[in-house]
Order: sequence, then C-alpha cells, then structure tokens
Amino acid sequence: MIELTGVRRSFADGVVLDGLDLRVDAGEFVSLVGPSGCGKSTLLRLVAGLDRADGGEVVVAREEGLAYVFQDAHLLPWRTVEGNVALPLELAGERDVSPRVGAALTAVELAGVGHKYPAELSGGMRMRASIARALVKKPRLLLMDEPFAALDELTRQRLDERLRTLFLEQGLTVVFVTHSIAEATFLSTRVVVLSSRPARIVHDAPVDLPAERNAVTRGTPAFARVTADLVAALEEGEA
Ligand SMILES: Nc1ncnc2c1ncn2[C@@H]1O[C@H](COP(=O)(O)OP(=O)(O)OP(=O)(O)O)[C@@H](O)[C@H]1O
Ligand SMILES: [Mg+2]
Repeated sequence: MIELTGVRRSFADGVVLDGLDLRVDAGEFVSLVGPSGCGKSTLLRLVAGLDRADGGEVVVAREEGLAYVFQDAHLLPWRTVEGNVALPLELAGERDVSPRVGAALTAVELAGVGHKYPAELSGGMRMRASIARALVKKPRLLLMDEPFAALDELTRQRLDERLRTLFLEQGLTVVFVTHSIAEATFLSTRVVVLSSRPARIVHDAPVDLPAERNAVTRGTPAFARVTADLVAALEEGEA
C-alpha cells in the first residue's frame, strides 16, 4: 500500500527525514510514535501527497482511495453534520449521496445527529463526524495525525475502540500518528518508533495481541508488556 525508499525532506531549519525506508502492506494498522518535532506529520503529509520529498521514492496506492484526518475536526460550521459528511461526495460530483452519508454516520454512531451543526456537538462527536467524512468515499487507506489528542481520556478510549472495530469491519489500512503509547498498543497491528530528527526507525515490531480488542485488553499482562517495550524504544530514540 505504501513504499518509502530513502526518503529525504529538509526545511529551512534543517534535515527532517534523511533517507527513511518504510513499507506498509494492505490490512496493517501502523502507528508512528516519536519525540515532538521528529518528522511524523512530515512523513504522513508525504504519504498523503500534501508535500513532496526532496529525494528518494514515495510510492502510495492512492488509486485505492485515501483519506486524511487531522487533529482538529475541521468541519465547516455553516453546514450540518450531514452536509459536512456529504462534502467529499458532492465535490466529486456524485448524486444520491444520502444513503452513503447515512451509512458513514451510522458507522461512527452519529446516526441521530446528522441535522445538527458542529457547534452543537461535543469534541468527541465532532471528531466522529470528521472520521465519517473521511470514510464516506470508502477509502482503503486512512491517514490520521493525532486525531484524538484533544479529547478527554474516556472519550479517547471509546473512539479507539470504535476505530479498531471500523478497521476490522471495513478492511482498512491505517497509518496513525500518536504520542500515546497505550493508544498505539491498543490500536495497532504494528508500531514504528522514530528517533528525534532526523527521524530514524529505532523500533519496528508487530503488536502481539488478539485481533478483537476491548476495554479489558488494556488490563492484560500482554498489553503491559508491549507498552513497556515501546517506552524502552522511545527512550533509546531520544537518547
Ligand atoms: N512546512 C514547513 N516549513 C518549515 N519547517 C517545517 C515545515 N513542516 C515541518 N517543519 C519542521 O520539520 C520538523 C518536523 O515537523 P513535524 O511536524 O513533522 O514533526 P512531528 O513529529 O509531527 O511533531 P509533533 O509530534 O510535535 O506533531 C519540525 O522541526 C518543523 O519545524
Ligand atoms: Mg505532528
């Protein structure tokens, strides 16, 4: 789905990516963790095609459909929730959009509030609306940059559970940036830990947990083991 080879990207203040290799296969849920400013968002933007590398190769199966979810919900305040979710379809000139909008809202458990405006929703609901908008065109690849960072812990855990279910049900491939080790462990099939810039991969390992995960999973010894390994890798990367 994604193949990065020797990718380089610099800005005026220096080198951010200096020859990075990363491959993501269809069906993986890969979380990227690493120190602030190491280049995670830069990497995601290159994959999305929102930015261009200075060198190396970025190959992404974009024809399979790709959606990007930002940390802020980025909803249009003058459109209802339905209107916001319908937007990608309308921009593509598609007709008879309401069944697909309804299905996307149901997938994120917002079926009852399509007629409301973003200002009438909680932060968690706005983020779910943003995810519905990302999913409405049925992308195979979903890129998410700290989507739940601004939410309270319980809301965040519930959205993690919802996202994990959507990942399994819809056969998505996800690349997810987070600062939360526990969130990365809960969601992912694989976690990639980056060093401080220029970002190097200091740890890249599958998450050895059952496919079906719920609130109980967070209390298991296996979960604690995976998070401890990730914390150790992060410390190594910051050293
Ligand atoms: N458009 C840009 N112009 C100039 N510098 C940039 C630009 N985008 C990113 N940078 C620089 O690249 C570095 C990496 O930024 P990036 O946003 O990728 O980090 P990050 O790992 O996502 O950090 P955080 O965890 O804080 O979100 C930073 O030093 C940043 O200042
Ligand atoms: Mg970032």
